[in-house]
Amino acid sequence: MSKVTRRAILKASAGVACGFGLGWTGNSIRSALAAPEPRILKPRKIEAKLTGTDLTRDVLTYDDAGVPPVLRMRKGEAFAARLVNGIDEPTTIHWHGIRVPNKMDGVPFLVQPYVYTGDQFDYVFTPPDAGTFWYHPHCNTLIQMGHGLTGVIVVENPADPEFDAEVVLNLRDWRLGGDGQFIEQYRPRDAARSGTFGTVRTANWIEQPQYDAPSGGLVRLRVAITDVTRIYSFRVQGSGATVIAIDGNPVPQAFPLDLLQLGPGQRLELAIRMPDNEGALVSLEDIRGTKSAVLATLRSVGASLRRDARDLAPLEPNPIDQVDVASAQHIRLALSATAENVSTDSICGSLGYSFWAINKVPWPGDTPDPTAPLAELKLGKSYVIDMENLTPQVHPIHLHGMSFKVLSSSKRQIQPQITDTYLIQADEKVQLGFVADNPGDWLLHCHIIEHQKTGMTSYLRVV
Ligand code: C2O
Ligand code: CU
Repeated sequence: MSKVTRRAILKASAGVACGFGLGWTGNSIRSALAAPEPRILKPRKIEAKLTGTDLTRDVLTYDDAGVPPVLRMRKGEAFAARLVNGIDEPTTIHWHGIRVPNKMDGVPFLVQPYVYTGDQFDYVFTPPDAGTFWYHPHCNTLIQMGHGLTGVIVVENPADPEFDAEVVLNLRDWRLGGDGQFIEQYRPRDAARSGTFGTVRTANWIEQPQYDAPSGGLVRLRVAITDVTRIYSFRVQGSGATVIAIDGNPVPQAFPLDLLQLGPGQRLELAIRMPDNEGALVSLEDIRGTKSAVLATLRSVGASLRRDARDLAPLEPNPIDQVDVASAQHIRLALSATAENVSTDSICGSLGYSFWAINKVPWPGDTPDPTAPLAELKLGKSYVIDMENLTPQVHPIHLHGMSFKVLSSSKRQIQPQITDTYLIQADEKVQLGFVADNPGDWLLHCHIIEHQKTGMTSYLRVV
């Protein structure tokens, strides 16, 4: 299969300079003893081929060249990574959607120190859930993610059904001018609306890549939206596609893909049955906006395997505690615009404005003066978030550290999906249930990064 699906190769840590002791923090020591050799993740600046014109300068990646590696982990097996900061500003790594211990969550100040240039930080955790996740910095995120630091994580489950091929797509845009160089990452007037869109759309850092897949075979397509702004409406042309998982969790019942809308931070897993005839094309498209865009294409190769999609066993659900709705305490959460235009300076960069607020408090999320938590939750108890969107925009709201179940919506028929990110529509009210089973301070924010950085961020405390 394509090179994006190859098993990640652990690199030896030889040659990496010792850091300044920022690494091992209290609760990681126990798991660290049994931890494997850390995967080195070194953000660095490169030149990359992103357009038909010149190489783009000031691109950031976690590997030697090109798109950040797909990190492969196994459900229930320890994973270790050493962040070695090779860029000229502080950074961290957040493991989006993976239920890690709080100290490993990557949010500077709130849960871990800023990792300054030349310093390092060791992450160690055991992913409890299988599925498609992703990783990115949680410092100066609009610039660091906008310039390339977004990578996909696949957590494998040995009990997964057998596919003939797997393709991983990292979907994101770039804000580039005609000469292929970065232009200003955002415009304040757009930050106050839907966010500022990129100009070059890629999958795995390639415009409309094509991958080979066996004719008549079953492909597991793992898609991660790692863009800072764009919301997608997916369809597949050339074959039927079945939605098997969203946001790292199996859907309660697999269903045919039909214009599913997902936003920044969200992931989609599809089972695609390739056509029988060699050379036939299957394309993943985004039809949001005025014209449809082809994101990536699969091409049938070889003699047909004649697989039947109905033979696929459903994915095993992840071990998420069941919320007890009857006993749950409710937490009100209102998303709104704010009139304040104050600029808070931050070690992790500031956009210079506040446009958004959660329960009327604007906070950019990575400053050394956190607001009070939205609520203090008791470990092991059930909660329902009553979230209301008072704005005319759509917001992908992401909770760190715990997965929740979508219980009901004022606007749509919902499946009781387990997720870490809910794309709330304008004027929608939604109920999200979960068990507060992970102690610590857990960020909750809009994943349209301009919204996050201009106020739409808060956190829950579990004690
Ligand atoms: Cu992808 Cu704070 O998250
Ligand atoms: Cu938003």
